[in-house]
Amino acid sequence: MATKVLLVGGGAREHAMARALAEGGAELYSVMKNRNPGIRRLSKDVLAASETDIEKVTMYARLRGVELACVGPEAPLEAGLVDALEKEGVRCAAPTGAAARLETSKEFMRALMARRGIPGRIEHWVFSDIAEVKRFISGYDKGVAVKPVGLTGGKGVKISGDQLLSKDEVVRYAAEVLEKKVGGQSRVIIEERAEGEEFTLQAFSDGKRVSPMPAVQDHKRAWEGDSGPNTGGMGSYSQQDHLLPFLRRQEYEEGVQVIQRTVDALAAEGTPFKGPIYGQFMLTREGPKVIEFNARFGDPEAMNVLSLLEGDFLEICNDMADGSLGGESAAFGRLATVCKYVVPVGYGVSSRVGSEITVDEKGVESEGARLYFAAVNEKGPGTVLTTTSRALGVVGVAQDIEAAERRCEAALSHLGGDFFVRHDIGRPEAIKKKMERMERIRGP
Ligand code: AMP
Ligand code: GLY
Repeated sequence: MATKVLLVGGGAREHAMARALAEGGAELYSVMKNRNPGIRRLSKDVLAASETDIEKVTMYARLRGVELACVGPEAPLEAGLVDALEKEGVRCAAPTGAAARLETSKEFMRALMARRGIPGRIEHWVFSDIAEVKRFISGYDKGVAVKPVGLTGGKGVKISGDQLLSKDEVVRYAAEVLEKKVGGQSRVIIEERAEGEEFTLQAFSDGKRVSPMPAVQDHKRAWEGDSGPNTGGMGSYSQQDHLLPFLRRQEYEEGVQVIQRTVDALAAEGTPFKGPIYGQFMLTREGPKVIEFNARFGDPEAMNVLSLLEGDFLEICNDMADGSLGGESAAFGRLATVCKYVVPVGYGVSSRVGSEITVDEKGVESEGARLYFAAVNEKGPGTVLTTTSRALGVVGVAQDIEAAERRCEAALSHLGGDFFVRHDIGRPEAIKKKMERMERIRGP
């Protein structure tokens, strides 16, 4: 009999998860607040509800008799969905609220790394009093990153030299975070500014063992050339050897070690981490440094890696939930991927909501690309309407990044309407710039 799986979330990441689970023979019961046509089609049944309505989601799981749960976004993890489901006897390929603090509290994450001597640390200071921030900043002359301690959807971070142009501006932003309780608490974290190229390393974890996935580079800035406001991520690419053009094997392995040590630390403290774990690293002159952890797949990064996964995702999820991941790493195809997000016009500043996008799915498939629906609502066959968030993920897969990028662009020509795409993602010129920048940072 097919395994009944609860899937929480209605974006492109969850559409990619849904497809991979369905390929493994799962019977899907989905919960989302929008009407994602891709997930809907793959599901046996859908509950339209807020993903953080723990009572409703748990009752739905009970009524449908689901056996296993997979969770896309972080908000339900923070709200304790996994704890509630496990109480009902539902096995979860996702972390409890306590383990998810790795993402939901930057203060917890930094303290855990320090307590356990995990490599990849950067200096940081936590404040709840603006007078202390002022005192600290007057004596600190290097660049900083200022962030709320809690969740802000990747949009609460300001960096000196970028959004913060003076010590006064650092203090003013810290004061704003404290006063408005940005991220849910009146606490602000100031970190040393790390310089380098960023990369994402995700792994499957069963609470003890980790099985790493290909490295990916996301693009958080809204506009071409990595300019404009930070977003949830505009697109991402991965390379056929599972490294990145600027990332060496040794540095990838160091990233894997950081993740393994972090999973060990959480297990040692009685809050084992099950599910996909996500490390956002800055590759600096001194090697990879942790910028943040996520307690889930990245979005868009899930689309890159799940498009390459050769193993059975349902089996991997069962193993994560049961603590029985095998000794070998999960297998991924030795191909490159380029994912570009189709977003509403104005995304990152003020999204145009309700714009029509026409989607010729057969056309996209004929280019050998994959299409994932994100936060859109279906209007009718072949037409979706934008919301404030990202609309569609388009993934080209091919023998190298250049070919995957061309395939992604060819697929985009099968979409119509008003939307915005960062066409520069994965282009040879853009990649060359990143490689040159990394060489400069590495120094002689
Ligand atoms: P986060 O929400 O923590 O991922 O931060 C958003 C973005 O801000 C990251 O992707 C980085 O580009 C940047 N950032 C965050 N922390 C730092 C840091 N300590 N040094 C340099 N850049 C940072
Ligand atoms: N791509 C960044 C994130 O999922 O948070």
